[in-house]
Amino acid sequence: MAYSEKVMEHFTNPRNMGEIENPSGVGTVGNAQCGDIMRVYFDIDEAGIIQDVKFKTFGCAAAVATSSMATELVKGKSVQEALEVTNTAVCEALDGLPPIKVHCSLLAEEAIHAALWDYAEKNNIVIEGLKKPKSDIHEDDELEEEY
Ligand code: FES
Repeated sequence: MAYSEKVMEHFTNPRNMGEIENPSGVGTVGNAQCGDIMRVYFDIDEAGIIQDVKFKTFGCAAAVATSSMATELVKGKSVQEALEVTNTAVCEALDGLPPIKVHCSLLAEEAIHAALWDYAEKNNIVIEGLKKPKSDIHEDDELEEEY
């Protein structure tokens, strides 16, 4: 199994690691299969633009690298645009992940959605296309087939 240079680079030098005090939204997602966990914090301004984002990931190299890249991709975007940052987009930006590690990238996507959901609930708004997040990505049975 080989990681791309970009994956290694984001793993060894992750962007946006840390936390935000009094975040506009925060979301935590775990992967029961491997026990890895990611938490995302957003600072969102009145116009709905993500001014800052931080993450904490307790996980494998692919989870850390995708968290780093995903936070880079959503920073400065509107909440609506952030929804479009899928795990596929994150994997592409990292020049791909080994097939058995692709599921790791779901952690970042789901944690971002969970943080957006939290933000929407706190502000009594509806983000079009955002579904209530799962607290564990393996609540989705379809994923099991990948193992
Ligand atoms: Fe758990 Fe990668 S092995 S997220």
